[in-house]
Amino acid sequence: MDHLQNILENAFEQFHGAQGGHNADYIPFLNNIPSELCALAVVDVKGNTWQLGDDEYRFAIESISKVCTLALAMAQKGPEVVKDKIGASPTGMPFNSVLALELHGGKPLSPLVNAGAMSTVSLLTAADRDARWQAILTMQQKMGSHQIALSDELNTSEQSTNAHNKGIAWLLYSAGYLYSDPMEACDVYTRQCSTLLNVVELATMGATLANGGQNPITGEQVLNPEHTPYILAEMMMEGMYDSSGEWAYSVGLPSKSGVGGGIVSVVPGVMAIAAFSPQLDEMGNSVRGQKMIAQVANALNFNLFKA
Ligand code: DON
Repeated sequence: MDHLQNILENAFEQFHGAQGGHNADYIPFLNNIPSELCALAVVDVKGNTWQLGDDEYRFAIESISKVCTLALAMAQKGPEVVKDKIGASPTGMPFNSVLALELHGGKPLSPLVNAGAMSTVSLLTAADRDARWQAILTMQQKMGSHQIALSDELNTSEQSTNAHNKGIAWLLYSAGYLYSDPMEACDVYTRQCSTLLNVVELATMGATLANGGQNPITGEQVLNPEHTPYILAEMMMEGMYDSSGEWAYSVGLPSKSGVGGGIVSVVPGVMAIAAFSPQLDEMGNSVRGQKMIAQVANALNFNLFKA
């Protein structure tokens, strides 16, 4: 599809030098990533791929990992348990908000904010800490690629600066929304954020969701197809944090961002579009990534709310 390559090139040309935002600075490793890096990719449900820019650069998955852990919780516990114990609504507040917890009796509301993600980690059935971590890593690899791996350097950087998340874990525990040892859940959550992947692997994760849970590159049926609509609904509600509503309004695709600079948007039944560039807006979403994905989705006329 040369047409698609042209659309990607146009979006990349227009926005890869866009200014504004800054690297995440509360995790030292992320603050040191070269800000000019920029990449864009599409993977469709047949496994065709298009990519450009710094497409081999391996960046931090960060919050996008929450989607994979949610998928694992869906597989183990089912959508009703996920909705009851964690939630399926936007918080309307920053991704690490303590106020959002206080306002809702300690319930996280969404598996895609930090509190809900730690709650999701704790909900998994696992013999011990290492089994919990391995199950999550395996899900990232099955949805994305077997090249996805932990960065010890990033993990050390995150583990030494995650006091706020530790506080959230204890608050969740005291309110009855954390189902394992709180510090084990926080530790495993921090590790799940500390894996590296490239933009094509990120698009592959999205394409697995677009394709009813079957990874279109490996052919493996990773998720129950009945679960992918619930995962995508969670992404639409909270995947772009406190700008999820504006993103739904302007782009209309379920998406997930991370403070590593990645964003993936899913066109169910068709493809996923992924972008990476480290500079973030106030909400924690990649500035260039949002612009490039919005432009590609608009050029292809993909918006779930369009007839
Ligand atoms: O827990 C944190 O704060 C980070 N490891 C991940 C947060 C994140 O990616 C939010 N994304 N936009």
